[in-house]
Amino acid sequence: MTSGMRKGLTSYGDSEFSLFLRKAFIKAMGYSDDALDRPIVGITNTYSDFNPCHGNVPQLIEAVKRGAMLAGAMPMVFPTISIHESFAYPTSMFLRNLMAMDTEEMIRALPVDSVVLIGGCDKTTPAQVMGAVSADIPAIVLPVGPMLVGHFKGEVLGACTDCRRLWGEFRGNRISGEDIEVANARLAPSVGTCGVMGTASTIAIMMEGLGLALPGSASIPAPHADRIRMAEATGKRAAEMTKGGPKPSDILTRDAFRNAIVMLQAIGGSTNGVVHLSAMAGRTKNPLTLEEFDEIGKTTPVLVDLKPSGDHYMEHFHQAGGVPRLMQELKDVLALDAPHVMGGTLGDAIKVFEDVPGQTVIKPRNAPLKKEGGLAVLHGNLAPRGAVIKQAAASPRLMQHEGRAVVFDSVEDMTRRIDDPNLDVTESDVLVMRNAGPIGAPGMPEAGYLPIPKKLAQKGIKDMVRISDARMSGTAFGTIVLHISPESAAGGPLALVKTGDRIRLDVAARKIDLLVDDAELKKRATEWKAPPVPDVAQRGYAKLYREHVQQADEGCDFDFLAAVKK
Ligand code: FES
Repeated sequence: MTSGMRKGLTSYGDSEFSLFLRKAFIKAMGYSDDALDRPIVGITNTYSDFNPCHGNVPQLIEAVKRGAMLAGAMPMVFPTISIHESFAYPTSMFLRNLMAMDTEEMIRALPVDSVVLIGGCDKTTPAQVMGAVSADIPAIVLPVGPMLVGHFKGEVLGACTDCRRLWGEFRGNRISGEDIEVANARLAPSVGTCGVMGTASTIAIMMEGLGLALPGSASIPAPHADRIRMAEATGKRAAEMTKGGPKPSDILTRDAFRNAIVMLQAIGGSTNGVVHLSAMAGRTKNPLTLEEFDEIGKTTPVLVDLKPSGDHYMEHFHQAGGVPRLMQELKDVLALDAPHVMGGTLGDAIKVFEDVPGQTVIKPRNAPLKKEGGLAVLHGNLAPRGAVIKQAAASPRLMQHEGRAVVFDSVEDMTRRIDDPNLDVTESDVLVMRNAGPIGAPGMPEAGYLPIPKKLAQKGIKDMVRISDARMSGTAFGTIVLHISPESAAGGPLALVKTGDRIRLDVAARKIDLLVDDAELKKRATEWKAPPVPDVAQRGYAKLYREHVQQADEGCDFDFLAAVKK
């Protein structure tokens, strides 16, 4: 098998000429023959002026290069798409699969013997791993790390749970316009990913659970010197991996995915973790079902006390020992013999851990925050293929609830009417939003965190049952049912709900039902018309996306990219 500069030669019909030409061009950059004879560690560059979460990527790249060279390899950096949550129209989810395709094809096209995937902002790491799994060369993940906490009027702040909380206070007239502007400048006080247990933190922790990243790499804050040292160590390991792996297909066993779900449940992680892990698994021979998430959740307690379901921030989780320390509490439910990117097993990788006296962020197994995992999967006539609720961040009083549906036809309809003083709504109603799924919006926006109607917010109402086929930011909280599958734009039952219908939620029984008889639902289904294809989806990537995106229970990957046809 060829490696280094001899790998994947461009086709000119004469391989020796292809190599000759390649070397002639690359020598324009000043490389010596010694450098060009080394195995090559590829390093993805997802730095972008539009991605502040990745602001430390240039420094990390330098350290990865140092590590790779110390171990005798030649590091080479290549760019890929970068996606930031706030700078992705219409949504970052819409672009995730494009980034996965970009990453996969660049890894395949370039002569790299191993690859370091530097990512972090929500969709980036899942996209990179999806691509690397399909390309299947030795790959190691390096998260950019979480941002530091901010401070405002004696309070600790973290993006973006506190962005939402403070915005809610502002909407309820409990914070002035002047104060909200000051807080705006303090919510993200450094580069790095959101500092709570949002999607980025969830994914980084699941990467340690999967065995694709070095132990401790999820939680070191982005600006810390240890983050740079972690990058150097990752570069070194990537250089070793050029000589025989392991490859993603060696690491991503069924046990590895189950370990990642254990982590997701134990940290009270983001609901987006379900979608992304399903998409990654869908690229392997080990696809996941929603039932597996629920089943593992029933035997995995929530042990990590972080916002939005708890009190602390990623910085504090790191100080408490991070993932290796958390895993000590979960040894009985983890498959410790799962293979690890370090070369041995997960059990070997977490032998070294820090026990911090007096820490209160990682709870002991015998005193969990919640006996069951953070996420539950619901089924019922409203969600035949499933829906997800973050029970760890929901209001206990609403976990069993029956109420009258108040229906919004789309995100735009909801935005237009939610604060209308004449909206017929009470706190015991169930807010329903549809046409916000993978196809419907398009791109399954994080709009499932429907705001409390202003007239109720001003009365101090902080939570209501809200249901949709949308997603929700991992930094959000509330009694919110998401990812209803199939989505309404694909003809799912959510499309048939009318204002005034009654809806019953029973999280303990894992049920979400529309209390309308079957004959009436059948009649409504015959009258239903699919929403028209928007102009933007008549061509290009939007057309590809619309025609091939799968439903949320399958991870929203494109059907032609998944490894296993269902
Ligand atoms: Fe990048 Fe939250 S916006 S991780």
